[in-house]
Amino acid sequence: MAGKRIFPPTTALYPAPVVLVSCGDFMGEKNALTVAWTGTVASDPPAVVIGIRPTRYSFGLIQRYGDFVVNLPRDEHLDILEYCGSVSGRTEDKFEKAGLTADRPESVRAPLVKEFPVNIECKVKDRIPMGSHDLFIAEVMAVHVDPSVLTEGEIDAEKMRAIAYWNGKYYRLGERIGKRKV
Ligand SMILES: Cc1cc2nc3c(=O)[nH]c(=O)nc-3n(C[C@H](O)[C@H](O)[C@H](O)COP(=O)(O)O)c2cc1C
Repeated sequence: MAGKRIFPPTTALYPAPVVLVSCGDFMGEKNALTVAWTGTVASDPPAVVIGIRPTRYSFGLIQRYGDFVVNLPRDEHLDILEYCGSVSGRTEDKFEKAGLTADRPESVRAPLVKEFPVNIECKVKDRIPMGSHDLFIAEVMAVHVDPSVLTEGEIDAEKMRAIAYWNGKYYRLGERIGKRKV
């Protein structure tokens, strides 16, 4: 076998989740941006991270209100992800233009996006600058799940028709190939 090629440092960890992060105030100014630099970072209490460039309009909103909502998309939401990931809330009301409905959160100020089947309310606990992006580390405060994506009380990946992001491309998550034994 030929030797492996060595790449210079790059963002090689794929697949990444791709999500719509909503922020601001449910009762006032609100915005949403597409985020691929995100993940779960702790189980108890459950915590997530998002990497946001300080130049984003959303950055200031997340800092001001100290929270955000991670909205998990389905395959049918690709156009919304593309739109919210290429236009800034500084110049357009993305909720209005994309036909998104703001739903009332339980324990944060940021709005939920009603059209997305899973909404994870997050409260910022820490911010760590990391070069191009700042990492917002946040505790999960509440999770809203549409019953249409549940099987026996669990979120069902096939019903979700969840999508992943890999180097500029989107993929629908497919068949299950295993199950944890422990
Ligand atoms: C697939 C995809 C993934 C993205 N991931 C991120 C990300 O992880 N962090 C980030 O700051 N911007 C990311 N962006 C870019 C922002 O979504 C984009 O710049 C957006 O217009 C910023 O909106 P805002 O200025 O209203 O906050 C991504 C865009 C796309 C299309």
